[in-house]
This record gives sequence, C-alpha cells and structure tokens, in this order.
Amino acid sequence: DTKIIKIDNDHIDSTKLKEAVDILKNGGLVAFPTETVYGLGADGLNKDASMKIYAAKGRPSDNPLILHISSMKALDDLTKGDSSLGRKLAQAFWPGPLTLIFNKSEKVPLTTTGGLDTVAVRMPSHPIAYELIRQSGVYVAAPSANTSGRPSPTTAGHVIEDMDGRIDMIIDGGKADIGLESTIVDVTGEIPVILRPGFITLEDIERVTGEAEYDRSLFQKPSTENFKPKAPGMKYRHYAPKGQLTIYEGESRNVIQAINKEAAKKQSEGFKVGIIATDETLSSYENGIIKTIGTRKDEKTIASGLFRLLREFDTEQADYIYSESFYDNPLGQAIMNRLLKAAGYHIEKI
Ligand code: TXA
Ligand code: MG
Repeated sequence: DTKIIKIDNDHIDSTKLKEAVDILKNGGLVAFPTETVYGLGADGLNKDASMKIYAAKGRPSDNPLILHISSMKALDDLTKGDSSLGRKLAQAFWPGPLTLIFNKSEKVPLTTTGGLDTVAVRMPSHPIAYELIRQSGVYVAAPSANTSGRPSPTTAGHVIEDMDGRIDMIIDGGKADIGLESTIVDVTGEIPVILRPGFITLEDIERVTGEAEYDRSLFQKPSTENFKPKAPGMKYRHYAPKGQLTIYEGESRNVIQAINKEAAKKQSEGFKVGIIATDETLSSYENGIIKTIGTRKDEKTIASGLFRLLREFDTEQADYIYSESFYDNPLGQAIMNRLLKAAGYHIEKI
C-alpha cells in the first residue's frame, strides 16, 4: 500500500519527513514535490532501488535518471574529469531547476545512467525535496513521478493517479511551482549544450558562460531517420494525452476561427472536443470543453498550466484537443517543446 502524507512547505514536520527518509535509506520509493514537477525518488547508488523506479513507471531501462543532491560536495563523488564549466553554472543556478550532465565517476552504477558514461545531476530548491535529500544522506535518483508517456505530475493528486499502489510513499507538498521539468545542460564539452529547454533559458546560461547552444535534435521530429538525441528520454513519445492534440499556429484571430470551425465539425460527428485557450481568448471559443491554460501576460502561468490541462482532458475523455501556440515569450522554447511532443508534432499552420 502507498502511504500518503501531507507536509507544509513552510514548516517541515521532521517526524513525518523522517518516515520518508527511512524508506529511501532502505531502498524504497518515495514521490516528493520539487519546484519543477513531482519526482519519484530512490537511492541512486543502490541498483535494486533504481530498478524499482523503472518498474513503477514502466520506463525503458535505457532512459537514464537524474541524481538529486543537496551539497556541492556531491560533485566530487559523482563526477570525473574537468567539471569547471558545470560548476560555474551550478554556482549560478543551484539550488534550482537546472540539471547538468557530467562525465560520471565509477561510483555511479550504469543502471542509473542507462548505460551512459555521463551522469545527470541536479540540486532542487524546493524545501521538501532539499530536506529529504539532505536528511537521507543518499543521492536521490528521481524521474518525474508519472507513468512513462503520461504528462508529468504537478500535484500530489496527479502522482496518486499514476502511482497509487506501486510505490511506498507519496509526500503531498502542494502544487509544483514551475510545472515543467528542469532545463538539462550538457557541460562535458567546451560550451554548454541545452538538451531539454526549461525555466532557465539559453539567455540565462549565456549570461554566465558567454556562449551556449541548443542541441540540434531539439528541432528535429523524432520520426526523422538517424534521430539520436543526447538526452535519451527525448526520443520517446511524451506527455501524450489520450486524445489527438493539434497545435494551431498563426495570427490569433485566424487561429480562433480555424479551431472553432474544426471543433464544430468534430462535435457534429459525435466526438468529444477539448480546447486549450488563454484568459485572453477564452470567450472567443464556441464548442467543446474550453479550458484556459493561463494568461499571455505572464508566461509562467502557461508553463505551469500545461501538464495539468493535458491530464484534465484525459479525465474528460476528449477525443480531439486543439491548442493555440505559445512561442512568443521567454519560456516559449520550453513550453512548445512539451506541447509539440504531446501533439506528436501535429501542427496546423493557418
Ligand atoms: O525537473 C526535473 O528534472 C524532474 C524533477 C523530478 O527533478 N525530473 C525529471 O526526470 O524530469 P526525468 O527522468 O523525467 O527526465 C530526465 C531526462 C530524460 O530525458 C533523460 O533521458 C535525461 O534526463 N538524462 C538523464 N541522464 C542523462 C545523461 N547522462 N545524458 C543525457 N541525458 C540524460
Ligand atoms: Mg519525465
């Protein structure tokens, strides 16, 4: 049975947290909130414990895990070779929503890295995540706490949907603030390479290191031949809602008109239709289940609303979902990366 406990972010009850700490130390699985999404944690240096993560998520075993740490000293333990570029970024952004890829030390098992000789490391800023890692004294391997292929969980309720009965404990610490997974940056080369866009942007990284770039595979469709992204997870169908999601690109007025037309058609054919609108456009849609993702005046609301909305449309059993696009803001790369994957790159240009 999965034990569900509530912990207040501002006043962490150490008796309650101790139970979670003990589970991790003993090789068990605990889901916990982070500032990005909920994570599914286990002792990352314990092979059996990390194997349990793959089983609980139904995750392919070549998809490596991120090790979560609470002190910079961990880098001496987990990495090998010149780590100066990564340390510079760590100084600037940790604790926070940034994952760094280093060359791994012998200590890190290949079961954790999916057979790679590099390791992903992140120091989260969420008080519950941070304290859990610190008090357990283990490096916590933690993917997002969803069933493989489903949208990442941003509330404990989402984790319960996917993981109840499959793991030892779920810590409910409220809503995950950012709502998109961490930015992943490969720091094994001369300049930082972004493998997964997130809340920390290319521009943020450039401000620290002078230079940075996106991995080229970020802009390729996974169906393309020879598609071999450096973050193995990026090759799997992700975040996919059960219905067919289509993204509409173009001038707002035209997008609304096109979505209204298509929604009316599908509804008349007897299908259940969902629409991803914004606060600004909510009242312009006419058919189906219309939900706002957030406001264009604050792109953070859009980032944090995306996975929640995709899950809500699953609950509503929408057959077709239509969405506006969200390129024109500082988090555009991160938001559209997830939305495009969720849509299986199904785009209508208007
Ligand atoms: O915000 C986050 O990063 C969340 C929270 C829980 O910290 N975690 C998360 O983990 O998103 P996960 O497992 O869902 O995504 C990790 C991604 C995968 O795409 C994986 O392929 C990539 O990181 N990754 C892990 N180790 C890697 C490595 N050594 N080289 C390249 N990519 C790696
Ligand atoms: Mg994930």
